[in-house]
Amino acid sequence: MPTDADPSDSALSVQWPLAQPWPLHPPQRLVVLASGQGSNFEALVAACRSLSLGGQPHGGQRLAAQVVLLVVNNPGCGAEARAARLGIPCQLINHRDHPSRASLDDALIAACQQAQADLVVMAGWMRIVTPLLVQAYPDRLLNIHPSLLPSFRGLDAVGQALAAGVQLTGCTAHLVRPEVDAGPVLVQAAVPVLPGDDHSSLSARIQRQEHAILPLAVALAAARLAG
Ligand code: GAR
Repeated sequence: MPTDADPSDSALSVQWPLAQPWPLHPPQRLVVLASGQGSNFEALVAACRSLSLGGQPHGGQRLAAQVVLLVVNNPGCGAEARAARLGIPCQLINHRDHPSRASLDDALIAACQQAQADLVVMAGWMRIVTPLLVQAYPDRLLNIHPSLLPSFRGLDAVGQALAAGVQLTGCTAHLVRPEVDAGPVLVQAAVPVLPGDDHSSLSARIQRQEHAILPLAVALAAARLAG
């Protein structure tokens, strides 16, 4: 067992649920939307480029996808710096320049269409999206959220879980529907709340699992579309 083994890994429910090995399809063009540090964005890029999944070996296959564009709404955010380091084009679409959520989503749709996105992944995108974006990418818009949905929707899901005193929380990758943090679940991972956990330690263990499930969710979404 590696020395950096994480107790949450034993609870990780990441299993490819189909009989066929992944990836199943020609490479998908991904546009990633991020507002903050961008660790999930980087995990997706890594899954497309390396023979592992969330840092864990996974059948020696790359995710059959390519991150063609990162969109950020916060100038100078960590995700922007990661894109520069990783050589991924990055476009700033600042929500402060838009008078409404619909106007912001129109700009997002234009950027995604320009990039010829097959799938759009909200990886720490901290803006509420409108039905415009959801309907522009039906069953092609994904979100990652740091709880076992439908528990703890909305802001600070980790803080909500700690305040509720649950012993088990986790993360969910799902298809997006117009309601906040709602839609068909693609993959979930369970993360136990350990004695002595604080916001920082629990967030870090949840994020480790997010990085593992998000690439799988992308592959599953592509598989669903292909029928
Ligand atoms: C992730 O933990 C993600 O689940 C959360 O923001 C974080 C972004 O981290 N998203 C939400 O809470 C959406 N409701 P990252 O920028 O390092 O990927």
